[in-house]
Amino acid sequence: MDTTYADSVLDRGVPTDDPRGFRRCLGQFATGVNIMTTTHDGTPAGVTANSFSSLSMDPPLVLWSIGRTSRSVQAFAESKHFCVNVLSTDQIALAQTFSSKSADKFAETDWDTTRNSSPTFEGLVASFDCETYAVHDGGDHLIIVGKVLEYTHFAGTPLLYSQGRYAVAEDHPELDRDAPGREPSHSSDKHDSRRSSLDSMRLTTLLASVGTALSSEADKVRYVNGVDFAQGRTIFTLRHGARLTVEEIIEVSYLTRQATEDALSALIERQLVSASDGAYVLSEKGADLLRTLMLGFEHLDRLQLGALPNDDLVCLRRVLTDLHLKLYE
Ligand SMILES: Cc1cc2nc3c(=O)[nH]c(=O)nc-3n(C[C@H](O)[C@H](O)[C@H](O)COP(=O)(O)O)c2cc1C
Repeated sequence: MDTTYADSVLDRGVPTDDPRGFRRCLGQFATGVNIMTTTHDGTPAGVTANSFSSLSMDPPLVLWSIGRTSRSVQAFAESKHFCVNVLSTDQIALAQTFSSKSADKFAETDWDTTRNSSPTFEGLVASFDCETYAVHDGGDHLIIVGKVLEYTHFAGTPLLYSQGRYAVAEDHPELDRDAPGREPSHSSDKHDSRRSSLDSMRLTTLLASVGTALSSEADKVRYVNGVDFAQGRTIFTLRHGARLTVEEIIEVSYLTRQATEDALSALIERQLVSASDGAYVLSEKGADLLRTLMLGFEHLDRLQLGALPNDDLVCLRRVLTDLHLKLYE
């Protein structure tokens, strides 16, 4: 089986031999991000979790799994109720708090309780207030099955988790394709018809679809240089000789703790990063790789944007900078 789709294989292995590679491969499956909450013996408990899945419509069941080493495992295993709090794109800080080792996660945030006394938050895209239906063995995790007593659907865009980092969903770039049966047969007609359908597309949709296509090209630059998304972003976070702890890297990279720790271990093994006193710094070799990556990205920019007249490029930068300042003020 070793030759299966050999050209596009980046990594293949046995999970017990390479848990990091296994986790990276699992990261190819994109999910949403939840905070699971419960109240046990009068004390609130909560963990960030992406192992959530819908299970059954009749009865209405959902499931997720909690690591046996989690400080909250007993609370969830013994509680009669829990709540699935589905996060929006504005709630990365909340995801970071509830995946941290903070002594009191609830002291750092505003929260309320559902009618079954499970903590809940403002700004979610959905919540599922559950009764604990079953708890099963799941290796080093427990599988918690909940019967949904009440669902609440809010306006908003869900936060995603993919390839070790928090992400947002965008319309698929091919969404603008002509409706079936309307495809012109000549290639020049096709081009004209495609242009006219793009002309009528909402400007924001057009921007988003160009952004998606450009960022998927950047993946290739990383892979050609032997780093994945999380390793590439970690290297970039350590640019300019920065000496950062895992917490400081997480704060700016929007990578999860697990992805950051895995990326750092791989980079240290390859002597691209060195560690001392709990802080990480790029080695000479790491700084060289960063330069190569940046050259690769610049080459990509030239390839994709180089054919545009300079005036258009200047105008594009001005418009996008203004927009960025306005949207992220
Ligand atoms: C995006 C993301 C998804 C996670 N998914 C899970 C999960 O499904 N189950 C789990 O036990 N831990 C998961 N974790 C890790 C926990 O949030 C983390 O171990 C937390 O610190 C446990 O808290 P506790 O020890 O206070 O109970 C996830 C972390 C992140 C950032």
